[in-house]
Amino acid sequence: MDAAGDETRAAWAIASRKYEDEYAEHLALARTAELLPAEVDVLGRIVADADIVHPMSGHGLDDIALARLGARSVHGLDYSEAAVSSAQRRADELGIPCRYTRAAMPESGLEGACADLVYTGKGALIWLADLPAFFAEVHRLLRAGGRFYVYEAHPLVPLWDWSPEEIRVRPDRGYFAPSHVNDSFPGNGAVERQHTLSAIVMACRRAGFEIEHLDEHPEPFWRPEGTTAAAWDGRVPNTFSLLARRA
Ligand SMILES: C[S@@+](CC[C@H](N)C(=O)[O-])C[C@H]1O[C@@H](n2cnc3c(N)ncnc32)[C@H](O)[C@@H]1O
Repeated sequence: MDAAGDETRAAWAIASRKYEDEYAEHLALARTAELLPAEVDVLGRIVADADIVHPMSGHGLDDIALARLGARSVHGLDYSEAAVSSAQRRADELGIPCRYTRAAMPESGLEGACADLVYTGKGALIWLADLPAFFAEVHRLLRAGGRFYVYEAHPLVPLWDWSPEEIRVRPDRGYFAPSHVNDSFPGNGAVERQHTLSAIVMACRRAGFEIEHLDEHPEPFWRPEGTTAAAWDGRVPNTFSLLARRA
């Protein structure tokens, strides 16, 4: 990992203590956690009986939702000890078949061909410096015919400021910039890697995947409390989703 990667990991080690400090709140959310309707539309039939690996699993609420949709198993991977231990405790308390392992992607440490679906997103790809290495690992983890799904912040999102009056492009950001320092969550000097939509799609294809679904959505996946940005009023993209099949 490079210096920016080390900074980012240290930032997440601090920020994800939130999942322990707010254990009860996250447990309450976990009791009713569901994937977004756009995710269920695409994943509904794919999840049933699937063995799922979830890199960058964070608080793990999506894992509980995937299990409720009928997944046979969900294996969350995250490099933050607080994230994996609190997610494991929640899943165990609810009796949901999820397990968690510490791993620093793109090295999952798992056996090859162990998954029918690799699911990730909502603030995941932006922490990866090397997308080709990530997709190569996802390809290795999947069984033949298995799928990769991501629901993620649109690569244009770093450009939107959060002004409530009008949609504005931040003067300090560029679509083609390689990275910027995160100034919301997790903060603490974390470095967000920027990948254009074409870079993501092409890295996925080059790793040996066939794209089955690609969509852009106006809704953000995260609205920080007390913020109402004009950029979230439906006119510009804030998220995208992609489903790809391992050839
Ligand atoms: C925004 S959260 C994850 C998103 C998850 N879907 C959620 O909503 O909690 C990002 C997570 O990625 C983890 N992370 C970042 N880079 C990582 C890497 N290279 N390997 C493993 N975990 C990583 C962080 O520790 C953090 O828990």
